[in-house]
Amino acid sequence: MEYETLAKEKLPKMIYDYYASGAEDEWTLKENRYAFSRILFRPRILVDVSKIDMTTTVLGFKISMPIMVAPTAMQKMAHPDGEYATARASAAAGTIMTLSSWGTSSVEEVASTGPGVRFFQLYVYKDRNVVTQLVKRAEKAGFKAIVLTVDTPRLGRRESDIKNRFVLPPNLSLKNFDGLNLGKLDKTDDSGLASYVAGQVDRSLSWKDVQWLKSITPLPILVKGVLTAEDARIAVQYGVAGIIVSNHGARQLDYVPATIMALEEVVKATQNRVPVFLDGGIRRGTDVFKALALGASGVFIGRPVVFSLAVDGEAGVRKTLQMLHDELELTMALSGCRSLAEISRNHIVAPWDPPRVTPRL
Ligand SMILES: Cc1cc2nc3c(=O)[nH]c(=O)nc-3n(C[C@H](O)[C@H](O)[C@H](O)COP(=O)(O)O)c2cc1C
Repeated sequence: MEYETLAKEKLPKMIYDYYASGAEDEWTLKENRYAFSRILFRPRILVDVSKIDMTTTVLGFKISMPIMVAPTAMQKMAHPDGEYATARASAAAGTIMTLSSWGTSSVEEVASTGPGVRFFQLYVYKDRNVVTQLVKRAEKAGFKAIVLTVDTPRLGRRESDIKNRFVLPPNLSLKNFDGLNLGKLDKTDDSGLASYVAGQVDRSLSWKDVQWLKSITPLPILVKGVLTAEDARIAVQYGVAGIIVSNHGARQLDYVPATIMALEEVVKATQNRVPVFLDGGIRRGTDVFKALALGASGVFIGRPVVFSLAVDGEAGVRKTLQMLHDELELTMALSGCRSLAEISRNHIVAPWDPPRVTPRL
C-alpha cells in the first residue's frame, strides 16, 4: 500500500491513473479490499510452529510460496527495466511470473532474463494467425502455460483513462506485436487502449475457442476471469488445467463481487477437479491465508508489482514478494498452521457462515 503512495508521487498522472484505476464508480475496486476485512481468523494455539513450509506445486512446478505475479500490461511505463525487472524478481523469489500479451517487452526478451517458471497471458485477437504465431513464440520461449483472459470482449469503462486520453508513451510499444504492426496505440479522443481493444480483440470469443486453443498448443490453459459456479463447471468440462477467479482488478464490469466473495462457490463447483486461483485486492499475507482457507491453491498479485516496480525497479518487486512471503509465514505461525495443507476452512469465519453454536469438527 505504501508503494502505491510513493508511485503516485513519482509517476506522471496518466500512467499512475492507468495502473491504479478501476471501472466506472470503482465500487468493485474498493470492495476487492474491503471484503477481505470482513473475514476473520479462528487461530489455533499451542501448535509447534518452529518449522513452516510454504512451498507448493502449481501445474507440476514447485514454487516457494502460493503467491504469484499476475499479468499487468505495459510495465516499462512504470520503470525502464519493466518486465525484465519483474521476471528477475519473480525468479529470485522462486515464484511464477505471468507475462501480459501487452507487455512492453516480448516473450523472447523476457525469456532472455534467465531461468524461471513463466506463464503467458493471452488476449485473443480477431486475426487468429496473430494468436497462433504468438502462442508458438511463447512455447518456444519456454513459457509453461497459457493464461486465457476471458473477461475482456471489450475494455471496461475506465474513466480516468478516457479523461487522460490514455496512450502509450512514444518510446514504448506492445513488443509482442511490433513485427505485426499492431504494437502501437493510436491517439483517440477516448482511451487509446479501449479503441485498440475495440479494433483488435475478438468479441466473438466463446467456449469453442477454448477447444480451438487446445488444438493449437499442448500447453495447459488457465482461464482467468471466472466469477460463477456455472462458468466454473463449463470450464472443467472444456478441459482447462485451472481457473483463476478474477475481476481483472476491478477494471472490467463494475459491481461484480470482490473475488474473495466469489471464490468459495467456484471452488465447490469444480469439485477438486482443477486447481482454483484468485487475484484481486491481495495486499497482505493475511489476505493470502484467507484465500487459501476458502479453497484457493494460490493467488496472484497485480498492482503491488507495478507500484513497487515504479518506485524501485527489480529491488522493489523483490521487496514486495518478500514482504508478502514473510507476512503469510507469520499468519500461518499465529494461526497454528505448519504447511499450506493445514490451512483449513475452520481457520477463518466469513460473514456468510451460519452462527457458530457448537464447534464445527
Ligand atoms: C495496470 C494493470 C494492467 C493489467 N493488465 C492486464 C493484462 O494485460 N492482462 C490481463 O489478463 N489482466 C491484466 N490486469 C489484471 C491483473 O492481471 C489482475 O487480474 C489484477 O491486477 C489483480 O488485482 P490487484 O491489482 O488488486 O492485485 C491488469 C491490471 C492492472 C492493474
